[in-house]
Amino acid sequence: MEQERYLFVETHGCQMNDSDSGKITSLMSACNYRTTSDIGKADIVILNTCSVRDKAEHKVYSYLGTLKSYKERNPNLIIGVGGCVAQQEGERLLKRVPHLDIVFGTHNIHKLPELVSQVRRNKERVAETRFYENGLDIFPAPVFGSSSNSLKGLVNVMLGCDNFCSYCVVPYVRGREISRPSAGIVKEIEGLVSSGVKEVTLIGQNVNSYGRGLDEGTDFPTLLRKVNGINGLKRIRFMTSHPKDISDPLISSFGKLDKLCEHLHLPVQSGSDSVLKKMNRSYSSDGYLSRVQALRDLSPGMALTSDIIVGFPGETDEDFDATMGLVEKVRYDAIFSFKFSPRLETKAAGMPDQVNEGLKNERLLVLQERQREISLERNMEYEGKVVEVLVEGGGEKNHERLSGKTRSFKTVKFDGNEELVGELVQVRIEKGYVNSLIGKLV
Ligand code: SAH
Ligand code: SF4
Ligand code: F3S
Repeated sequence: MEQERYLFVETHGCQMNDSDSGKITSLMSACNYRTTSDIGKADIVILNTCSVRDKAEHKVYSYLGTLKSYKERNPNLIIGVGGCVAQQEGERLLKRVPHLDIVFGTHNIHKLPELVSQVRRNKERVAETRFYENGLDIFPAPVFGSSSNSLKGLVNVMLGCDNFCSYCVVPYVRGREISRPSAGIVKEIEGLVSSGVKEVTLIGQNVNSYGRGLDEGTDFPTLLRKVNGINGLKRIRFMTSHPKDISDPLISSFGKLDKLCEHLHLPVQSGSDSVLKKMNRSYSSDGYLSRVQALRDLSPGMALTSDIIVGFPGETDEDFDATMGLVEKVRYDAIFSFKFSPRLETKAAGMPDQVNEGLKNERLLVLQERQREISLERNMEYEGKVVEVLVEGGGEKNHERLSGKTRSFKTVKFDGNEELVGELVQVRIEKGYVNSLIGKLV
């Protein structure tokens, strides 16, 4: 029998990369590579990269720097870089990093085993970053073997993005938007459920536009209905949604589908109409607020989260105030906030009136401080209420300390036996903090 080898995967970036790393581990496990969390033991190290902001891209080079000493100790070690920086840089990355063996793009994950044997056999360094016209070829099935003993699965429903928001590199590094036929999605989820998964998150850069270009005529609300019908599945989430594609049927799915959790990540990016226009987001702040209102009318307990960029080119004090005003109106449960980072190829990188770093920092701080207060207030509203929690794990130090998520995606900590992991339990919330809730089992 062939000797067992070890794979170490480091993942940066978003849910796409998390899911792609799952594909990488399952593809490599079919080639006799076991995943290890001990990098010193690895025969292959894969870094799955993100290039959405400058900081993320820098992380790649500093991480690769630390790998040099491992390669010196073990010259047989194979180092590979995948994900969005790999897609963007291709061969250049091989030139820039001499101890790197493999560069594989976002459409080339399925090629990894072949690339690894090429490196072993021919002692050559390889880069493969071509986009596939027919992206369906690159949905290897079944891809979630590695996460089959966990409670939660990430399921790709589409690839790429066609929105070309003026600041964003994703359409360039992930290619054109392609939806995956629903039968394959349902089958994959059934497989996950039979291996113990209780919750799935349907992922894509803009899941609401799911179905565009598919012959079968399934749109996103229809897909949700199909997934809701899968026996044994307890919870459904999805990510990310573009506000311009939040349709009425999608909103009404929240009232109708029992497994669909009451949380929506609906990135607004800015509260200023002129900034939104320059961002090419195709909605106004009023349009956004009316969608939020429709959601809340239907489902008052709905949790909302968002992404917000400060310091977009030309953003004035008034524009920033408009963002703060929107945050006051929506009262998000949580936000991810970022300083605008000019990205190669994108339109915004070349726009006039770039905002200086000092002002970006100032605005980010103001936004984050106010959001912390709102998040705390929102979480305190849970005090005294009984909520359903999917128990995800015991505390690392204290096994009687469990944690899990509410349907609204809040982290809850409470005391209980570890045997409850994987169960849905009722917890009475005693205290709300900025990032979590503390409660008691009912
Ligand atoms: N598809 C998702 C987001 C993907 S990127 C959507 O449309 O909402 C995740 C977040 O990174 C974005 O929502 C945006 O807030 C942020 N982001 C993207 N490009 C950025 C840039 N150049 N500078 C700062 N933040 C950026
Ligand atoms: Fe980027 Fe916009 Fe596509 Fe989201 S919708 S991935 S922000 S281009
Ligand atoms: Fe980053 Fe690529 Fe995701 S750029 S945010 S890992 S799609």
